[in-house]
Amino acid sequence: MSRIASEKFRSKITTAERAAEFISHGMNVGFSGFTGAGYPKEVPGALAARIKAAHEAGEEFMIGCFTGASTAPELDGALAEVDGISFRMPYQSDPIMRNKINKGISGYSDIHLSHSGPQVWSGALGKLDVAVIEVTAITEDGELVPSSSVGNNTTWIRCADKVILEVNSWQSIDLWGMHDIYEGVALPPNRKPVPLVHPGDRIGSTTIKIDPDKVIAVIETDDPDRNTPFKPLDDESRMIAGHLLDFLANEVKQGRLPKNLLPMQSGVGNIANAVLAGLLEGPFENLTSYTEVIQDGMVDLLDSGKMEIASATAFSLSPEYAHKMNDNAADYRNKIILRPQDISNHPEMIRRLGVIACNGMIEADIYGNVNSTHIMGSKMQNGIGGSGDFTRNAYISSFVTPSTAKHGNISSIVPMVSHHDHTEHDVMVIITEQGLADLRGLSPRQRAKVVINNCAHPDYRPMLQEYYDHAEATANGHHTPHDLRKAHKWHVRFLETGSMLPS
Ligand code: COA
Repeated sequence: MSRIASEKFRSKITTAERAAEFISHGMNVGFSGFTGAGYPKEVPGALAARIKAAHEAGEEFMIGCFTGASTAPELDGALAEVDGISFRMPYQSDPIMRNKINKGISGYSDIHLSHSGPQVWSGALGKLDVAVIEVTAITEDGELVPSSSVGNNTTWIRCADKVILEVNSWQSIDLWGMHDIYEGVALPPNRKPVPLVHPGDRIGSTTIKIDPDKVIAVIETDDPDRNTPFKPLDDESRMIAGHLLDFLANEVKQGRLPKNLLPMQSGVGNIANAVLAGLLEGPFENLTSYTEVIQDGMVDLLDSGKMEIASATAFSLSPEYAHKMNDNAADYRNKIILRPQDISNHPEMIRRLGVIACNGMIEADIYGNVNSTHIMGSKMQNGIGGSGDFTRNAYISSFVTPSTAKHGNISSIVPMVSHHDHTEHDVMVIITEQGLADLRGLSPRQRAKVVINNCAHPDYRPMLQEYYDHAEATANGHHTPHDLRKAHKWHVRFLETGSMLPS
């Protein structure tokens, strides 16, 4: 059966090459896609070929590329490869895209995911010329059944002058009914409270409405999402998960959290997935999540019955789990809700629900400031994604990382972070395989003590203590003692010698 039930849309079916011709130099294009799910698979490649040909003919051709979050080699990779992106926002994680950003070829505005839609809608980022959106199907009434991510799709469709649709029959038709498309969002001064009080609430419709006259092309595809496997659990990630579980159990014991905890948010990356695996073995039942992405670990929690409901904006699954989702979407529809990222990452909901946030990080400093994005201060890794949306508004915010990176040559706990994403004002808990630092209620000098003693690797602990003692003895103030001449000396040493350890 055709996935395009509306005749109005069937008449617009064309090839990706023809559709790409609607996009020209200098345009801003809003693509669907979030953490490698639900991105268009064909038009970006055809556009990249057009850009390459233009460059070979000596013509300028670059676009502004807006998405929900990271995409895949077929989108970010293909367009970055041909130097086709002049401006990119928000989160990305593609190696080629990252390389072009770090070479200064593509400008990158690493904004909070919850800010990305409203900034485009307000016009602050210029006009949105074209939206290229993957969907699972088009209904008889001409409404769009979203695919494996919702992301910024409703905003792009609302704001773009023209829309290109990719209807992907690889996506299970049983995804129809899993989404909750709330269209009540608005720009100030017309914003109203969002009527969502439980992660399982449905407050919108299962499809996205669209003005058919905006649609200039419809492409039929059958290509899988990227779906990268997670690293197998290792001892370090098990230990990190164990520390978090012990902490949560104690919060329950102290009467600060209910027995079934509060809605969980779990970030991207291998460690965050490992924390979910830890919950599977933990004592907590009737869990819920209010998060951004559904990883394998969360699917396991739903399967086991330990988690009742998961609310997110996208999947971020391994190939094996994506297959499972496609086969069983009709069952998962009752336990998973995919929402626009305006809602999944909305500060109002995160604060109201009392989310317990757990995100990966690059490094933290002895006072609890966190760097999630930059390697040695200058080099972009991925981006802040939704970690700021959740951390700032969480009931309990936590960050996880192994205590060292690059075979022990880097300490993830440093005197001063080389880039600030989350400040000491927002960060409540830091966890490494060494242990956990609960920073709530501590002054900076008390924080330094627990971060050094509980989280730093033994190879770096004496060096951190030495830095702190020296700073305390020489600083011009004793609230947050630093020696600015030495604060980044470890980073400089790594750049010069390949190790933060003295030779
Ligand atoms: N200094 C330098 N490099 C470091 C480092 C440090 N302190 N810590 C980690 N790295 C390097 C790793 O060596 C690895 O490098 P490689 O790709 O060359 O192998 C890379 O950073 C990624 O590290 P990895 O251990 O694989 O981490 P991860 O998969 O758990 O991801 C983040 C960690 C921080 C990159 C990831 O969580 C992220 O992008 N976070 C920001 C966005 C976010 O939190 N989103 C979720 C919100 S819902």
